[in-house]
Amino acid sequence: MFDDLKRHAANVADRRIESLFEASDRAGEFSVRLGDMLFDYAKTNIDVEARGLLIDLLDRADMAVKRDEMFNGQALNATEGRAVLHTALRNLDGGPVLVEGYDVMPGVLETLDRMETFARAVRAGHFTGQGGPITDVINIGIGGSDLGPAMAVQALAPYHDGPRCHFVSNVDPADIADALRGCDPETTLVIVASKTFTTIETMTNARTAKAWMSETVADPAAQFAALSTAGDKTRDFGIDPSRVFGFADWVGGRYSVWGPIGLSLMIAIGPEAFRAFLRGGQAMDRHFLSADWPENMPAMLALVGLWHNQVLGHATRAVLPYDNRLARLPAYLQQLEMESNGKGVSMDGSDLPFDSGPVVWGAPGTNGQHAFYQLIHQGTRVVPCEFLVAAQGHEDELHHQHQLLVANCLAQSEALMRGRDLDEARGKVAGKFDGAELEKQARHRVFPGNRPSTTLAYPQLTPEMLGRIIALYEHRVFVEGVVLGINSYDQWGVELGKELATALQPVVEGGDASAKDGSTAGLVGFLKRNGL
Ligand code: F6P
Repeated sequence: MFDDLKRHAANVADRRIESLFEASDRAGEFSVRLGDMLFDYAKTNIDVEARGLLIDLLDRADMAVKRDEMFNGQALNATEGRAVLHTALRNLDGGPVLVEGYDVMPGVLETLDRMETFARAVRAGHFTGQGGPITDVINIGIGGSDLGPAMAVQALAPYHDGPRCHFVSNVDPADIADALRGCDPETTLVIVASKTFTTIETMTNARTAKAWMSETVADPAAQFAALSTAGDKTRDFGIDPSRVFGFADWVGGRYSVWGPIGLSLMIAIGPEAFRAFLRGGQAMDRHFLSADWPENMPAMLALVGLWHNQVLGHATRAVLPYDNRLARLPAYLQQLEMESNGKGVSMDGSDLPFDSGPVVWGAPGTNGQHAFYQLIHQGTRVVPCEFLVAAQGHEDELHHQHQLLVANCLAQSEALMRGRDLDEARGKVAGKFDGAELEKQARHRVFPGNRPSTTLAYPQLTPEMLGRIIALYEHRVFVEGVVLGINSYDQWGVELGKELATALQPVVEGGDASAKDGSTAGLVGFLKRNGL
């Protein structure tokens, strides 16, 4: 499938990216806009021919048909027989969405309404703990039931005017212990966020939180809410149905921040700001549905990803927000992209004939500059970089500091592209060294350059903009998955470890480890001798 692209890539392999800027309006022609949002991919080696071949991939994959099938509620998640309809959660005024002939929108809007009523009551102090108004909310969930709201609450800190929010995900008791230590059981609301309500980490932490609360509070369950598709299990846990916010199985865990799983975010920023977040997502949906491919931001973001990963063979991509409040975006995208497109088989079960999705990693700039950018600039492996940057922060009085941040962001993509050749490097050390020493010192200061990056620029990280950004990445995953012929909406690769952990529990509790492999048995023995 990628043969023509690989041939073309080989033909232009020696070309410097900056030479492409000799053409008239490279920056304008190799960027995409959605309103006041700009996706610039001019600093890649994609040219008109490469772009044409990449867009052919979309046509060959029937992308427009698949996209419409997703929005129309077809069961695209074939291994689980489920529709993929997180877009319905932000379809605020978009009309009916049918799943097997049944309109899901009345249910979606009714749940949104219930969430808003509850969030308002918590924020206004009308829903109270047994010791007074809620001061702290603890969201207990993991994976998609944690990463989305945790990322978004941090991203939207300037809009946070509700109670404090804490996120507990890890089964490591340190996580819940640290969260509980800062909270008063009489004024804490615990939200148990689990689509299945069976996830071992979440249910273990939920029981720990309930036990903690019951030491002080007469009716701990009254300070619990649940976000789940499993109403019967939330009832068994003792949570009153009035505080259970359900959703359907067509919302995948890593796509669930838009619905009940976003309750902690809604309580933090308020229902109006949460609706603005949804409207941002909806705006990206409308754009994805209507824009021609070259003008279509999710499609072009996906094609740039395929060019770097499947065509050029770069195994990782770095997500580098020059927006500190997006510090958790890389972790969020790790689940979104790697749990979705990290698959070894095609839809029909045959071996995937090319590489699956890339390793995604990253950290905010400028911190990363003082850590791993060394490798990005001079390491032997090329890491395509995806920068994000806002024109304005929220600290008006510190705008000059924000300008310094932006200068750093733009300098990095320029440095990656231009590099520094040996002559220039010699100039840097001439006068300090001479002869062979000068040559050696200069070589250490060479930057190969020609390293690709993209930049997503936007005016400010508002709730609406965050919604657009998250929906952009969701659709990018969809487009890459369809081209690769992957089911982006199941996650069988997480099962084996869960099964083996369950089987190992009795062994670590003191059972016989002799049936285990020598390494595992040896590690159990070592840990036992050291206090396990
Ligand atoms: O471990 C995989 C996974 O199923 C994720 O896909 C999901 O986001 C997470 O676990 C949590 O699942 P749940 O919301 O059902 O507790």
